[in-house]
Amino acid sequence: MQQWWKESVVYQIWPRSFADGDGDGIGDLGGITSRLDYLATLGVDVVWLSPIYPSPQDDAGYDISDYQDIDPTFGSVEQFDALLAAVHERGMKLVMDLVVNHTSDEHPWFVESRASKGNPKRNWYWWRPAREGMNAGDPGAEPNNWGSIFSGPAWELDETTGEYYLHLFSRKQPDLNWENPEVRQAVYAMMRWWLDRGVDGFRMDVINFISKVTSLPDGHVHDGSLYGDAMPYFVDGPRIHEFIQEMHREVFAGREGLITVGEMPGVTVEEARLYTDPARRELDMVFQFEHVQVDHGETRWDPRPLRLRDLKAILGRWQAGLAKVGWNSLYWNNHDQPRVVSRFGDDGEHRVRSAKLLGTVLHLHRGTPYIYQGEELGMTNAPFASIDDFRDIQSLNHYAEAVSTGADPKAVLAALRVLSRDNARTPMQWDDTENAGFTTGTPWIAVNPNHKGINAQTELADEDSVFHHYRRLIELRHTEPAVAHGDFRMLLADHEQVYAFARRYGSTELLVLANFSGEPTTIEVPDAGRWQGAELILANYAVDATGGMRHLALRPWEARVYRVRSPLGSTKDNIVTNPS
Ligand code: GLC
Repeated sequence: MQQWWKESVVYQIWPRSFADGDGDGIGDLGGITSRLDYLATLGVDVVWLSPIYPSPQDDAGYDISDYQDIDPTFGSVEQFDALLAAVHERGMKLVMDLVVNHTSDEHPWFVESRASKGNPKRNWYWWRPAREGMNAGDPGAEPNNWGSIFSGPAWELDETTGEYYLHLFSRKQPDLNWENPEVRQAVYAMMRWWLDRGVDGFRMDVINFISKVTSLPDGHVHDGSLYGDAMPYFVDGPRIHEFIQEMHREVFAGREGLITVGEMPGVTVEEARLYTDPARRELDMVFQFEHVQVDHGETRWDPRPLRLRDLKAILGRWQAGLAKVGWNSLYWNNHDQPRVVSRFGDDGEHRVRSAKLLGTVLHLHRGTPYIYQGEELGMTNAPFASIDDFRDIQSLNHYAEAVSTGADPKAVLAALRVLSRDNARTPMQWDDTENAGFTTGTPWIAVNPNHKGINAQTELADEDSVFHHYRRLIELRHTEPAVAHGDFRMLLADHEQVYAFARRYGSTELLVLANFSGEPTTIEVPDAGRWQGAELILANYAVDATGGMRHLALRPWEARVYRVRSPLGSTKDNIVTNPS
């Protein structure tokens, strides 16, 4: 069976910054519903909503205090049902964010758990006494040396019982104890409740963190680090596949037409193959992180210039690793990543061309592409002037910790400007009015001033815009089976400037060429004879079709997609080798 999600494109909405329907400066469900026709025009198949559940918003909704309701800031359950119906009416599907590695510390489960050592929910979270021989609250008395992903130790002392609880993220995000079958059953029941309501699947937040090595050993302290490296003890932990398979049995078995994607920092190709092998009944696809760490140096906050060969090596390895078994998801952007046109493209002179090039390269890979709100407009990073302009807990905590341990505030700010998650979180740019058409109130985070020139209204009216290029990419996936189902062959792997690859499905072959640079270049097309007479099906420049295929001159940030159709079976090579 050819799974429908292989031919689909997913659009991620980060509700806080998408569209504000009630003028309080924060995006909401009413706003989303009013913009669904825009998504239908773009042509996406699935909409994924970042969390809209009740939450103290310590981590912008990824700290959930009630899994089965809607935060009043975003709307009501009635509004949600209306949104879901409106999405379905337009032939699209709706995917919810599932955040079950942790809850909010204000979730009733945790409120009970912290009440006493004997509480029936005590064992729903990870509670530990102070390190042996030390008193709770003493410096270094935490049960182990793990650091939180949001800076500081991964343990918080709770005065009520004098014990510590584990939080891999903020102290307001205690980790659930998946060893406890009651926790797992409660999560599965909640998931079934949403599916019964009509949602079409889940994007699962850091789902490969849910199984921990239960002895919680100290991690190795790398040079220059304040804490031990805990990744070996919670990434793809000992019982992870057992838990995911159990979830599949308890929640998804017997239901049709759903899509599941696991967000998995640190996942390897080999593990991903296990998670996404349909025979193992776990997940449809995973989000891996290697390609969005390609420009990190020693730490997440140490930006390095992109080396195209490294990016190709990573993505090529993932394409090859999931070629026969499993499935890739494809993304440049989400609410945790800086804007790709600023990161891997050129957000100045060549913004439009480089945004189109990046979209082309991504969407022509084998896998299901994800578009993050505003990516289809070529939205850029924001000109944050001072630390006061940031809102994201990860960015603010990092700044405070780095500066208090002696780093130069200017240097920390410079790194944040390039890599902070807030770059993704500035409001969607709908038009050129004061708040970009996002809100009639005061936006919760500043609108990027470049919305005067970069906005949906202008791009919808311009056939040559980034928006219409993305629309064509989606249409191509829907109409040309080689895009979804073809095999993948990297070309010119060592070229430092050009990203080139071929796709093949039955008698159809596609050739993708992309000059990742502001400098023109001429390439020798590998196996040029194969592409003689190829039809140009997508490009970001006007192309003179009369030239041959042997040597091709590519202009700054030029991207082209060619197609050849050979009579089926005319050469051995053209026989289908990789049906999906
Ligand atoms: C995931 C989310 C991120 C969140 C974190 C903790 O990585 O994408 O936004 O902060 O998990 O839930």
